[in-house]
Amino acid sequence: MWAIIFVYVLLLVGNSDGRLSPGAPVLFAHGDPSSSVAQGAAAAGAEAARARPAAMPLPNSLTRLRGGSRARRIVVLGPPGSGKGTLCAELVRDISAVHLSSGDLLRDAIKRSSPLIDEETRKSVESGGLVRDDVVTSIVMSRLLDDGECARRGWILDGYPRTAAQARKLMERQETEPDLVILLDVDKQVILDRILGRMIDPVTGTIYHTSYLPKNPEILARLVRRTDDQQQFFERRYEEYVSNIDAIRSVFGTKLHSIKGSSTINITVQLVLKLLSEASSI
Ligand code: AP5
Ligand code: MG
Repeated sequence: MWAIIFVYVLLLVGNSDGRLSPGAPVLFAHGDPSSSVAQGAAAAGAEAARARPAAMPLPNSLTRLRGGSRARRIVVLGPPGSGKGTLCAELVRDISAVHLSSGDLLRDAIKRSSPLIDEETRKSVESGGLVRDDVVTSIVMSRLLDDGECARRGWILDGYPRTAAQARKLMERQETEPDLVILLDVDKQVILDRILGRMIDPVTGTIYHTSYLPKNPEILARLVRRTDDQQQFFERRYEEYVSNIDAIRSVFGTKLHSIKGSSTINITVQLVLKLLSEASSI
C-alpha cells in the first residue's frame, strides 16, 4: 500500500516541479566543493534552484540526516553520462554532505600540475581510459580522510570506485566504508545522447546540454566540451564500466542498490532519499 502511495507521489512531483525530464533541458552544476570552480558552480546551482519549488518534505528519519545525526557516506556509481554528477549536485541540496567527484578531482589535479599526476594519468583522463588504482585512490582517500568537512558532514562520492580493488580499499577502513551505494542504471543510447550534447561553463562548472543553452551571450561564448566527450572515448569509458561493474557489485553486496536513472532527475532524487531514509532508520 505504502509503495503504491509513494510511486503515485513521485509521479505527481516528477511532473510538476520543473526538475529534469528525460531529454529535457539541463542546467545543473557539480564539482569539487572546495575548488573555486565548484564554488562558482554552487552559485550557479543556487540560481537554477531558485527556478524550482522546494523539494518534497523529508520523511522524519531523513530530517535527522540534515541535523545532527552521524554524517552519511554515500557512493554513486553508473556508466559515463548516467547523471552521477547531476544527481549528486541535487542531493547535496537535501543532505548536508560534501560532493566529491573522482573525475573532477583528477581534472583539477591535472590543471594544477599536481605532482601526483604523471603523463599516463593525464592521457587516461583525456581519452577515457581508467587511471591507475594507486593514483586515483591516493587522491580520493586524501580527501575522505584528511578533509575535516568530509568527516564532519559526510560525503557523496561520485565515480569512485571504478574497479573491485578500489571498492575493497573503501571497505577496508571503517571511516571510508559507505552506508549506501547507488548504481544508476541507464541505457547506452540515452547516455550517449547526453554525453554528446553536454557543454560545460569552465568558469562556473555549470553543466548544460545543447538542448538547453544559456541566453547570456558571454556565457554562451565560453562553453566548452570535455575532451573525453567524443564517441570513440565514450565507447572506451563504457567498456571499462561494463567490464568492472559485476566485480564491484560483489564487493558491496547488499549495500548496493540499483535504480533507474533514465527518468526525471526529481524521481531519481526521491528514490535515493527514500533509500537513505530506510537506511537511516535501521
Ligand atoms: P552528468 O551528470 O555529467 O553525468 P556523469 O554520470 O557525471 O557523467 P561523467 O561523464 O562525468 O561520468 P564519467 O564516469 O565518464 O566521467 P568522470 O568525470 O567521472 O550528466 C551527463 C549529461 O546528461 C549532462 O549534460 C547532464 O546535464 C545530462 N543529464 C543528467 N541527468 C539527466 C536526466 N535525468 N535527464 C536528462 N539529462 C540528464 O571520469 C572521467 C575520467 O576520469 C575517466 O574516464 C577516467 O579516466 C578518470 N577516472 C575518474 N574516476 C576514476 C576512478 N575511480 N578510477 C580510474 N579512473 C577514474
Ligand atoms: Mg561526472
